[in-house]
Amino acid sequence: MVFDHEDHFGEDVAATYDDSTGAMFAPATVEATADALARLAGGGPALELGIGTGRIALPLARRGVAVHGIDLSEAMVARLRAKPGAEAIGVTLGDFATARAPGSYALVYLVFNTIGNLTSQDAQVACFANAAAHLRPGGCFVIETGVPELRRLPPGQSMLPFHAGPTQWAFDVYDTATQAMSSNYVEVAEGRGSFRSIPFRYAWPAELDLMARMAGLSPPQRWSGWSGEPFTHESTQHVSIWRKPAA
Ligand SMILES: C[S@@+](CC[C@H](N)C(=O)[O-])C[C@H]1O[C@@H](n2cnc3c(N)ncnc32)[C@H](O)[C@@H]1O
Repeated sequence: MVFDHEDHFGEDVAATYDDSTGAMFAPATVEATADALARLAGGGPALELGIGTGRIALPLARRGVAVHGIDLSEAMVARLRAKPGAEAIGVTLGDFATARAPGSYALVYLVFNTIGNLTSQDAQVACFANAAAHLRPGGCFVIETGVPELRRLPPGQSMLPFHAGPTQWAFDVYDTATQAMSSNYVEVAEGRGSFRSIPFRYAWPAELDLMARMAGLSPPQRWSGWSGEPFTHESTQHVSIWRKPAA
């Protein structure tokens, strides 16, 4: 099956991706993520779906894990390849819902809400099947993503602002009929306005569990963060770990 995925991480985004001062780029967040993933890899090789500029892949490789990545953005991968340590990381250019990377893995992981970049249920289901196909028996598939914020939407409203500054505004738009959403960014710089919109498909943890089950993976272990914090009705994100049965 071939999915038509637009590249929303072209040169314009890649050029400043690593300059972000957001929480996901804080050293403590990155180190906690890499520590947890290294433990889950258990000494075996890891495959990152949507490896990007190597925010997580490089610190994971520094922990002695052999990392390979899949990504469709040549611009993001070029940033990764320019970094020290990247020579140890192989990258397959392609759609992580369907692309095949060489070898088999103890860990396949997909972080930073990137499962939502697959904007149809078919593509997300295919991604779980693809992750399972890359796993060794006993290996695990890990997703880090947000819990859909629908509880914050008052009746009749479909938009949630998440940043308002003097020259930049950002908001999410939800369509609860289709599970389509988008993150939208408006900026005014030197008197000129710009607008960028990235489409996502949101999915509840339970729907992801069903996709895992369809791919032959076990029921999940689920945390609300990388240090194994409990997942509760108030959690705003989850780290979910599904296992491929041991042979
Ligand atoms: C939010 S960035 C995350 C990058 C990196 N994993 C990180 O944590 O910093 C999402 C990445 O996924 C890639 N991506 C999105 N959809 C994809 C797809 N269908 N196939 C392959 N890569 C994809 C983008 O090009 C981008 O590099």
